[in-house]
Amino acid sequence: MKGISSAVIRRLPRYYRYLDELLENDVVRISSKELSEKMNVTASQIRQDLNNFGGFGQQGYGYNVEYLYKEIGKILGLDKKYNLIIIGAGNLGQALANYTDFERRGFYLSGIFDVNPRLIGMKIRGIEVRLIDELEEFIKKNPVYIAALTLPKTKAPQMAAQLVRFGIQAIWNFVPTDLHLPKDIVVENVHLVESLMHLSYNLKAVQEENQEKK
Ligand code: NAI
Repeated sequence: MKGISSAVIRRLPRYYRYLDELLENDVVRISSKELSEKMNVTASQIRQDLNNFGGFGQQGYGYNVEYLYKEIGKILGLDKKYNLIIIGAGNLGQALANYTDFERRGFYLSGIFDVNPRLIGMKIRGIEVRLIDELEEFIKKNPVYIAALTLPKTKAPQMAAQLVRFGIQAIWNFVPTDLHLPKDIVVENVHLVESLMHLSYNLKAVQEENQEKK
């Protein structure tokens, strides 16, 4: 799947979510026009995006919802199952661990690790918080591909490097710091504050526009 812009890839989860809703409502097929109205993007954008992967649509028929849903799922790798661990069982780690929808998308939480002895043994959705010292052994016994980092910023770079040595292939990084890891390690950063800054920018723009109108 080389050569496809990351902007297109970023849009696919949204298509996937809409198609999921359509499937839940027993919609069998949809035209790019209808889908575009629902998603508030142009029909040509939808056609262009999906043409990157061979189209999936048929002239005069539109898209078969189930087929398109499955194909986008395959493109996103959601037809596979991945074990995921969480490093840092504090506020954010626990909130993540409590989120049940990951399994629906093929991501199985298999372990939660922390250094705080008071948290060890606590169960979140049936999964026990383990001492970080058990991490290497755990990964040897249970294949894990993805680690979510929800530990303090100062501990994150070292932990990420250690995880890579233990064979982790992808890091879901919630810590507000850039990780410098080998190129073949996939890092996805999730920073709520950056999203809030984006919101702030848009809010400022709307407020300035309203001010000008007065
Ligand atoms: P917290 O203090 O509640 O939890 C951190 C946990 O990490 C604690 O339980 C601590 O014992 C554990 N820990 C410390 N060193 C460790 C190590 N070496 N190995 C394993 N566990 C270790 O903090 P909170 O609020 O849960 O935040 C965690 C991280 O997530 C912070 O870096 C914070 O900046 C970040 N964060 C990111 C957000 C985002 O939008 N991406 C939102 C909120 C927090």
